Amino acid sequence: MTMIDALKQRRAVRSYEPREIEEEHIAQLLEAATWAPNDRMREPWHFYVIRGDSKLRYEQMAADYLQERFPTKPNLIKESLRVLESTTLMIVVTADIIPGDEASSEDNEYAAACAIHSMWLAAQELDLGLVWRTRGVGLVRDQRLHAFIGSPDNRKIIGTVFVGYPAEATPPTARTPFAQKTTWL
Ligand SMILES: Cc1cc2nc3c(=O)[nH]c(=O)nc-3n(C[C@H](O)[C@H](O)[C@H](O)COP(=O)(O)O)c2cc1C
Repeated sequence: MTMIDALKQRRAVRSYEPREIEEEHIAQLLEAATWAPNDRMREPWHFYVIRGDSKLRYEQMAADYLQERFPTKPNLIKESLRVLESTTLMIVVTADIIPGDEASSEDNEYAAACAIHSMWLAAQELDLGLVWRTRGVGLVRDQRLHAFIGSPDNRKIIGTVFVGYPAEATPPTARTPFAQKTTWL
């Protein structure tokens, strides 16, 4: 497959088989991530791998969050927790924040985003499905997740990546032709 085909075929995969991911594959995802471009080689990312017992604790944290956030939407809570329960691996990705250096901190966030995309493409090659979550059970903007991973304050959470063997074919998505998004100067 060409690189361009791989880019076009990458999908956000959100439903998985209840099957553990081999440690070797997890290592391959993380290694792919570390080859992402990054300004001045700061390699500003950190990865927190959540599975097994820590995933059970994550589920409890997510249940508390959902109850607080959506007290009148029991079906939404149930469905969100079902998604979590069927996910065997999650990886929280952080970017280093440099106090007093907003520009470099921003660049670090971009680099961490690139690292997530690299993992996404690597997952595809390993026949794994992946989705980058920020909202809902991704908990990216909830202080609880910060406490959960136990990261220092100078690490900003960029995404929670859910990974698993796809349970079903993922329907294609569409894109607006680049011509409509491009100004030739
Ligand atoms: C920064 C970012 C945050 C995202 N957050 C979520 C999320 O919280 N929940 C979710 O289901 N998908 C999330 N996604 C995945 C997008 O919804 C998905 O990429 C989009 O629907 C396009 O589908 P495709 O990736 O299969 O082409 C996120 C993607 C990005 C880049």
